[in-house]
Amino acid sequence: MRKVLIIGIGPGNPDYLTVQAINALNRVDVFFVPDKGAEKADLQQLRLDICHRYIKGDDYRLVEFKMPVRSNDPADYKRNVDDWHSRIEQEYERLLGREVGEGECAGFLIWGDPTLYDSVLRMIEKIRSTGVIAFDYEVIPGISSVQVLAARHRIALNRIGESVNITTGRKLAEKPTIGAENVVVMLDGEQSFKKVESPDVEIFWGAYVGTADEILVSGRLADVAGEIEVKRARARAEKGWIMDTYLLRGSRET
Ligand SMILES: C[S@@+](CC[C@H](N)C(=O)[O-])C[C@H]1O[C@@H](n2cnc3c(N)ncnc32)[C@H](O)[C@@H]1O
Repeated sequence: MRKVLIIGIGPGNPDYLTVQAINALNRVDVFFVPDKGAEKADLQQLRLDICHRYIKGDDYRLVEFKMPVRSNDPADYKRNVDDWHSRIEQEYERLLGREVGEGECAGFLIWGDPTLYDSVLRMIEKIRSTGVIAFDYEVIPGISSVQVLAARHRIALNRIGESVNITTGRKLAEKPTIGAENVVVMLDGEQSFKKVESPDVEIFWGAYVGTADEILVSGRLADVAGEIEVKRARARAEKGWIMDTYLLRGSRET
C-alpha cells in the first residue's frame, strides 16, 4: 500500500522542524514540491533546503508540479475556492498515481502546521475515500505561524482564563468589533485591522515571523496601525510577497 506523509515544516525557518518531522522526511521516497510562480520561489527554495539539510543521503525524488491558481473573481468566493480545490485534488491524485509506486512513501511539506488554515488534509481524505488509488496517510504536526508570532512577541495568546479565536482577515472585515477577547487574524491581504474602531485594542503584528526578514510591531492599534501599513507595503514591494499574522486583544471587562 502507498503511504502519504503530510509533514508540517514550520512557518519559514528550517530550525522549526521537529524531530518527528525530520524522521518522517527520512521515510519519504518522493516529495511533491509546488511551483507557485516566481513570487513564491523563496518558499519553494526553503522546502528544497529542508530536504538537503535533514535527509541522510540522496535516495529520494523531488517532483515539482504547477499548483493550480485560484480565480480572482470576487463575485462568488465559495465557488472559486471549491473549483480551485477540486483542480488541486485532481493534480494530487494524478501525482499519487503516476509518481508513487506500490509500497512507496510520498511526502507533502506543509507550511506551518497542516491542521491550521490548510486544505491538504481535506483533499487527501477526499482522494482516499474515492478509492481510485489505495493509500494510507499520517499527519506530522508543525509549529504554526501563530505560535511563532506569540513567541517572538514574548506573549501568551490568552490572558488568564480567556479564550482565543483564530480567524481570517475576511471574517474580521465582516464583523470588525473586538470585545474583551483575543483574536488571531490570518490570511489578511486587506489589513482588516484598519476597520476595527475600538481605540484601546492592542495589536501584536508580525510578518515573515521566525525568519531573517521578520518584522514585528506591537502597541495600541490606533497608535501603530499606520506604521504597520507602511512597513507592510514596503516589505511586500521589496520581496514581492508577504505573509503576516496578528493578535488583537480587547480591554478587559471592568
Ligand atoms: C494558508 S495559511 C497557512 C498557515 C499555516 N498552516 C500555519 O500553521 O501557520 C497562510 C497564512 O499563515 C500566516 N503565516 C504563515 N507563515 C507566516 C509567517 N512566517 N509570518 C507571518 N504569518 C505567517 C499568514 O497569515 C498567512 O496568510
